[in-house]
Amino acid sequence: MKTVVMSVGGSLINPGQIQIEFLKKLKSFVEKSPYKFIIVCGGGYSARAYITASKEFGVKPIGWDEIGIKATVLNAELLRHIFKAPPALQKPAKTNFKKVLIAAGWLPGCSTDYDAVLWAKKFNVKEVFNLSNTDYVYTKDPKLFADAKPLKKLSWKDYKKTISQKWVAGLNTPFDPIASKAAEKAKMKVICINGQKLKELDKYLKGKPFTGTVIG
Ligand code: UTP
Repeated sequence: MKTVVMSVGGSLINPGQIQIEFLKKLKSFVEKSPYKFIIVCGGGYSARAYITASKEFGVKPIGWDEIGIKATVLNAELLRHIFKAPPALQKPAKTNFKKVLIAAGWLPGCSTDYDAVLWAKKFNVKEVFNLSNTDYVYTKDPKLFADAKPLKKLSWKDYKKTISQKWVAGLNTPFDPIASKAAEKAKMKVICINGQKLKELDKYLKGKPFTGTVIG
């Protein structure tokens, strides 16, 4: 059975309030799908709030990441119970699972996007789905620039031109630079889709035209 590896942005799970409706939709989508799912959970609001608080006390950057990782673990714990899945995992490993495997952040220095790439590598999967709350990857941040243009398909080389290459805890890019480097090296495609529009993911999986961006 095909395994779908997805990085679910923490802002879809908890941008300040837990998104019950989104989680219900995701659960129903996964349960109806014929595929198996590895769902890597981002840290969302909790990660950012706790990282920001730690900075007020002069905590060092590695500590920011360590705190962010715990936020991903908390979100993963919620999802694994919702999905009645086995305990969430941090270190990617080729394990046996029935339908859903929930994963969280692992080591400092990246986001859960990178963890999703590591899981895909373990399962020899060449596609990673990156669910966020925007429809596309844009030429620049659409929240800041009204003239940002959507991009439907782009190479890793071109994608890397649209984002900062330096890692910093809590970085908010469609797909993080460390993960992008690893995905490019592994010749993977990353499909960026709005998690609020799971129909678009369904269309992609069925080989139909969809709203989203393919990188790679
Ligand atoms: P994410 O950056 O993955 O959460 O992890 P997010 O921002 O909700 O996800 P996206 O960007 O929307 O997909 C939160 C923080 O936890 C640390 C980093 O500091 C990251 O910014 N982290 C996470 C790590 O250091 N290593 C990991 O493997 C995962």
